[in-house]
Amino acid sequence: MIVLSDVGKGEGFGKIILFGEHFVVYGLPAIASAIGDKTIAEIVPSDKYELVDDRPATEGYKVKKQGEMERSMKLLLDFMKLDVDEKPVKITLSGNLFCTSGIGASAAMATSVARAFSDIYGLNLNDEQINRVSYEGEKGSVGTPSGVDNTCATFGGLIWFIKNLGGGDNTMDLIGMPKPVEVVLGSTGISQETKEVVADVRRQKDEDPEKYEKLFSDYETLVNEAKTALEGGDFEKIGSLMDKNHELLKEMNLSCKEAEEIISAAKGAGALGAKISGTGRGGYTISLTPGKELQEKVAKAIEDKGYRVMKTTIGS
Ligand code: MEV
Repeated sequence: MIVLSDVGKGEGFGKIILFGEHFVVYGLPAIASAIGDKTIAEIVPSDKYELVDDRPATEGYKVKKQGEMERSMKLLLDFMKLDVDEKPVKITLSGNLFCTSGIGASAAMATSVARAFSDIYGLNLNDEQINRVSYEGEKGSVGTPSGVDNTCATFGGLIWFIKNLGGGDNTMDLIGMPKPVEVVLGSTGISQETKEVVADVRRQKDEDPEKYEKLFSDYETLVNEAKTALEGGDFEKIGSLMDKNHELLKEMNLSCKEAEEIISAAKGAGALGAKISGTGRGGYTISLTPGKELQEKVAKAIEDKGYRVMKTTIGS
Protein backbone atom coordinates (compact mmCIF):
# COMPACT_ATOMS: atom_id res chain seq x y z
CA MET A 1 0.00 0.00 0.00
CA ILE A 2 1.29 3.49 -0.87
CA VAL A 3 1.77 5.67 2.20
CA LEU A 4 1.85 9.42 1.72
CA SER A 5 4.36 11.44 3.71
CA ASP A 6 3.12 14.34 5.89
CA VAL A 7 3.75 17.03 3.30
CA GLY A 8 5.00 17.41 -0.29
CA LYS A 9 6.53 20.64 -1.63
CA GLY A 10 7.49 21.83 -5.09
CA GLU A 11 8.36 24.98 -7.07
CA GLY A 12 8.09 26.12 -10.68
CA PHE A 13 9.64 29.24 -12.28
CA GLY A 14 7.80 31.85 -14.26
CA LYS A 15 9.10 32.57 -17.75
CA ILE A 16 9.26 35.29 -20.32
CA ILE A 17 9.56 34.74 -24.07
CA LEU A 18 12.14 36.95 -25.76
CA PHE A 19 11.55 35.65 -29.26
CA GLY A 20 9.08 33.30 -30.89
CA GLU A 21 5.76 32.97 -29.04
CA HIS A 22 3.27 31.27 -31.39
CA PHE A 23 5.99 30.61 -34.02
CA VAL A 24 7.33 27.96 -31.63
CA VAL A 25 4.04 26.01 -31.87
CA TYR A 26 4.92 25.36 -35.57
CA GLY A 27 8.43 24.03 -34.94
CA LEU A 28 10.35 27.31 -35.28
CA PRO A 29 12.94 28.16 -32.60
CA ALA A 30 12.03 30.29 -29.58
CA ILE A 31 14.29 32.02 -27.08
CA ALA A 32 12.86 32.13 -23.57
CA SER A 33 14.11 32.82 -20.10
CA ALA A 34 12.98 31.67 -16.70
CA ILE A 35 12.55 34.45 -14.17
CA GLY A 36 13.36 34.23 -10.46
CA ASP A 37 9.72 34.60 -9.37
CA LYS A 38 8.05 31.27 -8.74
CA THR A 39 4.91 29.38 -7.79
CA ILE A 40 5.11 27.09 -4.76
CA ALA A 41 2.83 24.07 -4.24
CA GLU A 42 2.32 22.39 -0.91
CA ILE A 43 0.33 19.16 -0.62
CA VAL A 44 -0.91 17.53 2.59
CA PRO A 45 -3.15 14.47 3.10
CA SER A 46 -6.74 15.49 3.81
CA ASP A 47 -10.20 13.99 4.24
CA LYS A 48 -11.37 15.53 0.93
CA TYR A 49 -9.74 16.85 -2.25
CA GLU A 50 -9.23 20.60 -2.05
CA LEU A 51 -7.30 23.18 -4.08
CA VAL A 52 -6.52 26.50 -2.38
CA ASP A 53 -5.13 29.13 -4.73
CA ASP A 54 -3.24 31.82 -2.76
CA ARG A 55 -1.11 32.98 -5.71
CA PRO A 56 -1.00 36.74 -6.27
CA ALA A 57 -2.81 37.44 -9.55
CA THR A 58 -4.23 40.15 -11.73
CA GLU A 59 -7.95 40.86 -11.25
CA GLY A 60 -10.09 38.30 -13.03
CA TYR A 61 -7.16 35.95 -13.75
CA LYS A 62 -8.31 33.11 -11.53
CA VAL A 63 -11.90 33.23 -12.78
CA LYS A 64 -10.80 33.37 -16.43
CA LYS A 65 -8.34 30.49 -15.92
CA GLN A 66 -10.61 28.28 -13.80
CA GLY A 67 -11.44 25.91 -16.68
CA GLU A 68 -7.79 25.69 -17.84
CA MET A 69 -6.66 25.02 -14.31
CA GLU A 70 -9.15 22.17 -13.77
CA ARG A 71 -8.23 20.59 -17.12
CA SER A 72 -4.51 20.90 -16.32
CA MET A 73 -4.85 19.34 -12.91
CA LYS A 74 -6.86 16.40 -14.27
CA LEU A 75 -4.39 15.79 -17.11
CA LEU A 76 -1.34 15.82 -14.88
CA LEU A 77 -2.95 13.60 -12.24
CA ASP A 78 -4.05 11.09 -14.91
CA PHE A 79 -0.54 11.12 -16.40
CA MET A 80 1.00 10.47 -12.97
CA LYS A 81 -1.68 7.80 -12.38
CA LEU A 82 -2.70 9.41 -9.09
CA ASP A 83 -6.24 9.23 -7.78
CA VAL A 84 -7.16 12.10 -5.46
CA ASP A 85 -10.58 10.54 -4.79
CA GLU A 86 -8.95 7.44 -3.40
CA LYS A 87 -6.22 9.37 -1.53
CA PRO A 88 -7.57 12.89 -0.98
CA VAL A 89 -5.14 15.76 -0.56
CA LYS A 90 -5.23 19.48 0.01
CA ILE A 91 -3.11 21.41 -2.50
CA THR A 92 -2.13 24.99 -1.61
CA LEU A 93 -0.60 27.23 -4.27
CA SER A 94 1.43 30.28 -3.25
CA GLY A 95 4.72 31.99 -4.17
CA ASN A 96 5.78 35.39 -5.51
CA LEU A 97 4.97 34.84 -9.20
CA PHE A 98 2.30 37.40 -10.01
CA CYS A 99 -0.10 35.50 -12.25
CA THR A 100 -1.40 36.93 -15.47
CA SER A 101 -1.12 35.69 -19.04
CA GLY A 102 2.33 35.86 -20.63
CA ILE A 103 4.40 34.91 -17.61
CA GLY A 104 4.11 31.10 -17.82
CA ALA A 105 1.92 30.93 -14.71
CA SER A 106 0.09 27.76 -15.79
CA ALA A 107 3.38 25.94 -16.44
CA ALA A 108 4.86 27.19 -13.15
CA MET A 109 1.76 25.83 -11.42
CA ALA A 110 1.96 22.45 -13.22
CA THR A 111 5.68 22.07 -12.45
CA SER A 112 5.25 22.99 -8.79
CA VAL A 113 2.33 20.56 -8.37
CA ALA A 114 4.19 17.75 -10.18
CA ARG A 115 7.19 18.27 -7.88
CA ALA A 116 4.99 18.37 -4.77
CA PHE A 117 3.19 15.12 -5.73
CA SER A 118 6.55 13.48 -6.47
CA ASP A 119 7.67 14.60 -3.01
CA ILE A 120 4.61 13.46 -1.03
CA TYR A 121 4.45 10.08 -2.84
CA GLY A 122 8.24 9.61 -2.58
CA LEU A 123 8.48 9.12 -6.37
CA ASN A 124 11.85 10.90 -6.76
CA LEU A 125 11.04 12.07 -10.28
CA ASN A 126 14.01 13.72 -12.00
CA ASP A 127 13.75 17.06 -13.88
CA GLU A 128 13.13 15.32 -17.23
CA GLN A 129 10.20 13.43 -15.74
CA ILE A 130 8.82 16.51 -13.97
CA ASN A 131 9.04 18.40 -17.27
CA ARG A 132 7.08 15.60 -18.99
CA VAL A 133 4.31 15.78 -16.35
CA SER A 134 4.23 19.57 -16.54
CA TYR A 135 3.88 19.34 -20.33
CA GLU A 136 0.77 17.17 -19.87
CA GLY A 137 -0.64 19.83 -17.54
CA GLU A 138 0.08 22.50 -20.16
CA LYS A 139 -2.18 20.66 -22.61
CA GLY A 140 -5.07 21.68 -20.37
CA SER A 141 -4.11 25.33 -20.77
CA VAL A 142 -2.75 25.55 -24.30
CA GLY A 143 -4.31 22.62 -26.20
CA THR A 144 -1.23 22.03 -28.38
CA PRO A 145 1.60 23.47 -26.26
CA SER A 146 5.08 23.89 -27.70
CA GLY A 147 6.61 22.82 -24.39
CA VAL A 148 8.67 26.00 -23.99
CA ASP A 149 6.82 27.21 -20.87
CA ASN A 150 7.09 23.95 -18.90
CA THR A 151 10.76 23.61 -19.93
CA CYS A 152 11.55 27.06 -18.48
CA ALA A 153 9.39 26.38 -15.41
CA THR A 154 11.30 23.17 -14.71
CA PHE A 155 14.93 23.85 -15.72
CA GLY A 156 15.29 27.65 -15.46
CA GLY A 157 17.93 29.59 -17.48
CA LEU A 158 17.92 31.26 -20.91
CA ILE A 159 17.07 28.67 -23.52
CA TRP A 160 16.95 28.06 -27.25
CA PHE A 161 13.96 25.81 -27.73
CA ILE A 162 12.62 23.91 -30.75
CA LYS A 163 9.52 21.76 -30.49
CA ASN A 164 9.89 18.38 -32.19
CA LEU A 165 6.77 18.25 -34.34
CA GLY A 166 7.32 14.51 -34.88
CA GLY A 167 6.71 13.89 -31.17
CA GLY A 168 10.32 13.02 -30.26
CA ASP A 169 12.58 14.95 -27.90
CA ASN A 170 12.48 18.73 -28.19
CA THR A 171 15.71 20.69 -28.69
CA MET A 172 16.71 22.63 -25.61
CA ASP A 173 20.10 24.39 -25.46
CA LEU A 174 21.20 26.86 -22.82
CA ILE A 175 22.27 30.21 -24.29
CA GLY A 176 25.28 31.78 -22.60
CA MET A 177 25.30 35.58 -22.43
CA PRO A 178 28.48 37.48 -21.48
CA LYS A 179 26.51 39.10 -18.62
CA PRO A 180 22.90 39.26 -17.48
CA VAL A 181 20.82 42.14 -18.79
CA GLU A 182 17.99 44.12 -17.19
CA VAL A 183 14.47 43.94 -18.58
CA VAL A 184 11.14 45.46 -17.57
CA LEU A 185 7.99 43.40 -17.82
CA GLY A 186 4.87 45.53 -18.13
CA SER A 187 1.50 43.95 -17.41
CA THR A 188 -1.53 44.98 -19.47
CA GLY A 189 -3.73 43.56 -16.71
CA ILE A 190 -5.64 41.56 -19.34
CA SER A 191 -5.85 37.75 -19.10
CA GLN A 192 -6.38 35.60 -22.16
CA GLU A 193 -7.04 31.88 -22.56
CA THR A 194 -3.87 30.69 -24.34
CA LYS A 195 -5.78 27.79 -25.87
CA GLU A 196 -8.21 30.16 -27.62
CA VAL A 197 -5.50 32.50 -28.90
CA VAL A 198 -3.34 29.62 -30.20
CA ALA A 199 -6.40 28.19 -31.98
CA ASP A 200 -7.21 31.58 -33.49
CA VAL A 201 -3.67 31.95 -34.89
CA ARG A 202 -4.04 28.50 -36.46
CA ARG A 203 -7.32 29.56 -38.03
CA GLN A 204 -5.71 32.72 -39.48
CA LYS A 205 -2.81 30.64 -40.83
CA ASP A 206 -5.19 28.17 -42.50
CA GLU A 207 -7.09 31.07 -44.10
CA ASP A 208 -3.98 32.77 -45.47
CA PRO A 209 -1.13 30.25 -45.78
CA GLU A 210 0.97 32.51 -48.04
CA LYS A 211 0.99 35.36 -45.54
CA TYR A 212 2.09 32.94 -42.81
CA GLU A 213 4.80 31.38 -44.96
CA LYS A 214 6.37 34.83 -45.33
CA LEU A 215 5.93 35.64 -41.61
CA PHE A 216 7.57 32.33 -40.66
CA SER A 217 10.49 32.85 -43.00
CA ASP A 218 11.08 36.44 -41.78
CA TYR A 219 10.91 35.20 -38.20
CA GLU A 220 13.38 32.37 -38.81
CA THR A 221 16.02 34.79 -40.12
CA LEU A 222 15.40 37.11 -37.16
CA VAL A 223 15.63 34.46 -34.43
CA ASN A 224 18.95 33.12 -35.72
CA GLU A 225 20.37 36.66 -35.68
CA ALA A 226 18.97 37.09 -32.15
CA LYS A 227 20.81 34.01 -30.85
CA THR A 228 24.13 35.36 -32.18
CA ALA A 229 23.40 38.82 -30.73
CA LEU A 230 22.57 37.35 -27.29
CA GLU A 231 25.74 35.24 -27.26
CA GLY A 232 27.75 38.34 -28.17
CA GLY A 233 25.94 40.65 -25.70
CA ASP A 234 24.99 43.00 -28.59
CA PHE A 235 22.08 44.78 -26.88
CA GLU A 236 21.35 47.29 -29.64
CA LYS A 237 20.89 44.45 -32.09
CA ILE A 238 18.79 42.38 -29.68
CA GLY A 239 16.54 45.39 -29.08
CA SER A 240 15.99 46.06 -32.77
CA LEU A 241 15.20 42.38 -33.37
CA MET A 242 12.66 42.46 -30.52
CA ASP A 243 10.96 45.39 -32.26
CA LYS A 244 10.89 43.44 -35.51
CA ASN A 245 9.47 40.38 -33.74
CA HIS A 246 6.74 42.58 -32.29
CA GLU A 247 5.85 43.87 -35.78
CA LEU A 248 5.39 40.26 -36.97
CA LEU A 249 3.18 39.51 -33.94
CA LYS A 250 1.10 42.57 -34.74
CA GLU A 251 0.52 41.21 -38.23
CA MET A 252 -0.85 38.10 -36.52
CA ASN A 253 -3.30 40.30 -34.54
CA LEU A 254 -1.62 39.48 -31.24
CA SER A 255 -1.17 42.95 -29.81
CA CYS A 256 -3.78 45.18 -28.18
CA LYS A 257 -4.25 48.86 -27.28
CA GLU A 258 -2.84 48.45 -23.75
CA ALA A 259 0.27 46.58 -24.95
CA GLU A 260 0.89 49.29 -27.56
CA GLU A 261 0.61 51.99 -24.90
CA ILE A 262 3.16 50.21 -22.68
CA ILE A 263 5.52 49.59 -25.59
CA SER A 264 5.44 53.20 -26.75
CA ALA A 265 6.03 54.46 -23.16
CA ALA A 266 8.99 52.07 -22.84
CA LYS A 267 10.50 53.06 -26.18
CA GLY A 268 9.91 56.74 -25.39
CA ALA A 269 11.90 56.32 -22.18
CA GLY A 270 14.83 54.73 -24.03
CA ALA A 271 14.16 50.95 -24.06
CA LEU A 272 16.30 49.36 -26.78
CA GLY A 273 13.44 47.12 -27.87
CA ALA A 274 9.99 46.08 -26.69
CA LYS A 275 7.39 43.50 -27.60
CA ILE A 276 4.51 41.50 -26.27
CA SER A 277 5.57 38.27 -24.63
CA GLY A 278 3.66 34.99 -24.46
CA THR A 279 0.05 34.53 -25.45
CA GLY A 280 -0.59 38.14 -26.52
CA ARG A 281 -3.79 40.25 -26.81
CA GLY A 282 -2.99 41.25 -23.24
CA GLY A 283 -0.68 39.63 -20.72
CA TYR A 284 2.88 40.93 -20.46
CA THR A 285 5.22 43.01 -22.56
CA ILE A 286 9.01 42.83 -22.31
CA SER A 287 11.33 45.82 -22.75
CA LEU A 288 15.11 45.57 -23.01
CA THR A 289 16.76 48.06 -20.64
CA PRO A 290 20.49 47.41 -20.07
CA GLY A 291 21.67 48.98 -16.79
CA LYS A 292 19.76 49.72 -13.57
CA GLU A 293 19.30 53.39 -14.45
CA LEU A 294 17.55 52.72 -17.77
CA GLN A 295 15.53 49.94 -16.16
CA GLU A 296 14.22 52.34 -13.47
CA LYS A 297 13.44 55.04 -16.05
CA VAL A 298 11.50 52.68 -18.31
CA ALA A 299 9.67 51.08 -15.36
CA LYS A 300 8.59 54.51 -14.17
CA ALA A 301 7.38 55.55 -17.63
CA ILE A 302 5.19 52.42 -17.78
CA GLU A 303 3.92 52.88 -14.21
CA ASP A 304 3.08 56.50 -14.98
CA LYS A 305 0.65 55.19 -17.60
CA GLY A 306 -1.05 53.15 -14.87
CA TYR A 307 0.41 49.70 -15.55
CA ARG A 308 2.06 47.29 -13.15
CA VAL A 309 5.72 46.37 -13.82
CA MET A 310 8.19 43.70 -12.83
CA LYS A 311 11.91 44.46 -12.97
CA THR A 312 14.18 41.48 -13.52
CA THR A 313 17.23 40.26 -15.44
CA ILE A 314 17.65 37.57 -18.06
CA GLY A 315 20.71 35.50 -18.88
CA SER A 316 21.84 35.05 -15.27
C1 MEV B 1 2.57 30.86 -24.40
O1 MEV B 1 3.37 31.32 -23.33
C2 MEV B 1 3.42 30.68 -25.61
C3 MEV B 1 2.69 30.19 -26.86
O2 MEV B 1 3.66 30.17 -27.90
C4 MEV B 1 2.09 28.83 -26.67
C5 MEV B 1 3.14 27.74 -26.55
O3 MEV B 1 4.31 27.93 -26.87
O4 MEV B 1 2.75 26.63 -26.13
C6 MEV B 1 1.59 31.16 -27.27
